[in-house]
Amino acid sequence: MKQENVDCSYTAFHKKQRPRNLYPTEWVLRTLQGKYPGLSFDKSKYVGGRMLDMGFGDGRNWPVLNDLGFEIHGVEISEDILAIGRERASQIGIPVTLKVGRNNSIPYNNSFFDYILACHSCYYVDGGTSFDDNVKEYARVLRPGGWMFASLPEKHSSICDGMHQLSDGHVEITKDPWGLRNGYVFRIFESEDEIRNAFSGYFDSFSIGLCCDNYFGIRINLYIAVCRRKENVIA
Ligand SMILES: C[S@@+](CC[C@H](N)C(=O)[O-])C[C@H]1O[C@@H](n2cnc3c(N)ncnc32)[C@H](O)[C@@H]1O
Repeated sequence: MKQENVDCSYTAFHKKQRPRNLYPTEWVLRTLQGKYPGLSFDKSKYVGGRMLDMGFGDGRNWPVLNDLGFEIHGVEISEDILAIGRERASQIGIPVTLKVGRNNSIPYNNSFFDYILACHSCYYVDGGTSFDDNVKEYARVLRPGGWMFASLPEKHSSICDGMHQLSDGHVEITKDPWGLRNGYVFRIFESEDEIRNAFSGYFDSFSIGLCCDNYFGIRINLYIAVCRRKENVIA
């Protein structure tokens, strides 16, 4: 599928939705605020930390990020999505800085961010690039010692039904239960080790969770990866 078509489908989706109220994503709340035996990172330094909400969509996680004290920046794929986001941010009175960019091309300087949230977004792979390019770009804009929080699709999710296998864990989506992402290339994962391998060039200190839901016949299985930008590797 051509890149423009992919971008148009999400821009049209966000333009059409425009809900009155938005609710945060459960794994984001649990990860940033909860205490779990296998989750380990320093939650004491949020206030004033620069947070990139990558592929922020409708901005549903901004109230949580704002309540926790982050300085919020957001990147999305089109000016139209930014305009909707700016309107939402001004309605709810939350300061955000929004820019157009992509997973493999984030319009910020090296080491700018203390944190990156990629809620259902970092595994979208543009034509002619690979997931490795996304990981490298995330590592470039995250300061050494900064933290990344990402959801990643597990291969038994319904979104993977009928997928066309490409190389290195990349797949083309053909049977999106919501009909939105057909033709997109995703990086999907089968195990925690596969996640560690994909990120370990630039990240360490992994905490990995797995949420498996079955919403009346639609399986939504997501790994949650928390990891720290390595100190001595240049991206
Ligand atoms: C499933 S939505 C998630 C939105 C939001 N983070 C949330 O959790 O509600 C995926 C988002 O990724 C964006 N996206 C699609 N392709 C992308 C790319 N190549 N780089 C960055 N973002 C992308 C879409 O515009 C869309 O808003």
